[in-house]
Amino acid sequence: MYQKIEQNFLRTNNIKWDYFRSNSEMSRYDCYGTSIVYSKLDHNEEFRLIHLRKFFTIPPTRVYFTEIIGGGLLYPHIDHNTQVVLNFYVSSDESKTIFYKLKNDETQPFKYKDKETDNIYQPDDLIETGSFQSSAGDAYLLDVSKIHAVQKTNDIVRQFISYQWQYHDYDTILNDLKNTI
Ligand SMILES: [Fe+2]
Repeated sequence: MYQKIEQNFLRTNNIKWDYFRSNSEMSRYDCYGTSIVYSKLDHNEEFRLIHLRKFFTIPPTRVYFTEIIGGGLLYPHIDHNTQVVLNFYVSSDESKTIFYKLKNDETQPFKYKDKETDNIYQPDDLIETGSFQSSAGDAYLLDVSKIHAVQKTNDIVRQFISYQWQYHDYDTILNDLKNTI
């Protein structure tokens, strides 16, 4: 479901974010006052070489500089085209990331407005199975093929770098991380 990665992957917390964060927005989901915005991470390879210790051998499908904006519930969902993510939290707040399972296996998901994939669920149809609060500097591996949500309790922007794997599952990437550190 999720695991905090205890090793400190960042060589330094003194990072020039303005240099690495791109203004080119790649995609965005708006949900009842909360938005998640994916932007390019500029100088991606340079960032890895300067700031990260070696931490995986299976290259991620993509990497984003990500922000969650606004206060409210980013509705329970399954990620589209991604099975597992490694998130480095650049800044955080009191928000909770929550995982769920269905009360009834036959419940069908619905769509975000203007999107094509049915991947959203109503909280009333779910049972919470776990949750965590991250701090700046934390790294978490998340199984985003499971239903999850972010409950934001204030307007502080939550920022993280998100390494995303489309073609490998959670256990494969978790084992890869364990074997390389
Ligand atoms: Fe997600």
